[in-house]
Amino acid sequence: MLPPILSNLRVPVVAAPMFIVSGPDLVIAQCKAGIVGSFPALNARERDGEPPLLDAWLTRIQEELDRHNQANPDNPAAPFAVNQIVHRSNARLERDIEICHRHRVPIWITSLGARPEVNAAAHDCGGIALHDVINATFARKALEKGADGLIAVAAGAGGHAGPQSPFALVQEIRGFFDGPLLLSGAIATGRAVLAAQAMGADLAYVGSPFIATEEANAVTDYKRMIVESGAEDIVYTPVFTGIAGNYLKPSIRSAGMDPDALDASHGEGMDFGKSAGKAKAWSQIWGSGQGIGAVREVVPAAALVERLAREYAQARQALLER
Ligand SMILES: Cc1cc2nc3c(=O)[nH]c(=O)nc-3n(C[C@H](O)[C@H](O)[C@H](O)COP(=O)(O)O)c2cc1C
Repeated sequence: MLPPILSNLRVPVVAAPMFIVSGPDLVIAQCKAGIVGSFPALNARERDGEPPLLDAWLTRIQEELDRHNQANPDNPAAPFAVNQIVHRSNARLERDIEICHRHRVPIWITSLGARPEVNAAAHDCGGIALHDVINATFARKALEKGADGLIAVAAGAGGHAGPQSPFALVQEIRGFFDGPLLLSGAIATGRAVLAAQAMGADLAYVGSPFIATEEANAVTDYKRMIVESGAEDIVYTPVFTGIAGNYLKPSIRSAGMDPDALDASHGEGMDFGKSAGKAKAWSQIWGSGQGIGAVREVVPAAALVERLAREYAQARQALLER
């Protein structure tokens, strides 16, 4: 059974948080279109001495969604989620948890580390905590530490993807967990959303297709590269951050490297304390999952959600008629 907060979406999709790319404009558009919108807390970076930008972003998101709900009582916005990177280099974690708790953030997504106190903070303000995992061992650990649901990050996902087949991952996790399960990795059509459910997931977790939307915080060349590229243009490598992830080969070439001959000397290691501008991976080397062959144009986020919903309904009907 899905908790009420994850039920009643326009299509069973949670938009995945993306470093640099996801900000308030994208989140508000995703939620208004009827799917869970999300962003990493670390994307809200104020200059030294300025008040926390995360506070301002959360106020804006909540006010705009409240206004939408008052004007559209029959078509309310979906809830939003904030992603916390639970990594030792994230020096802001405690502060960001306090801000999210104060704003009563409804859905907390944790990655790169499971900590009971983050889950406790989510629960204390009435929220739920979803933790992303790349294998069954991490899945069990996350549940022991109090996560309410899991995000299975399979091979082909954008960002720090796992190495496992989505079938293997979902099958194994479903062997010991019957709670909320999201599947992440290369899901870019409504048909694939339905396939994720057929495999045993409750919801699809969709990232890279939202890079090619008008509201995404990405330069035009990045959006165009998503539209023009396919799975063969993606390379899976640990060299840029120390953790294996998927990147667009043409962006690596533009940065003067050969994506087919990368070695450790090209990397910088992972440090979430750095400003986004300095972090070479993500700002110059662009991340993407393998599913982008299905992305044909840059559109408003609402149009992408509509496409997913239409394709999902058609795929369901076609299967029923078979
Ligand atoms: C450019 C980019 C940045 C990402 N940044 C984050 C992040 O900051 N935190 C996180 O939990 N996941 C991050 N991810 C992973 C996504 O949340 C999600 O797992 C993934 O995008 C899903 O696969 P897909 O891109 O094939 O749809 C990122 C993915 C991309 C493409």
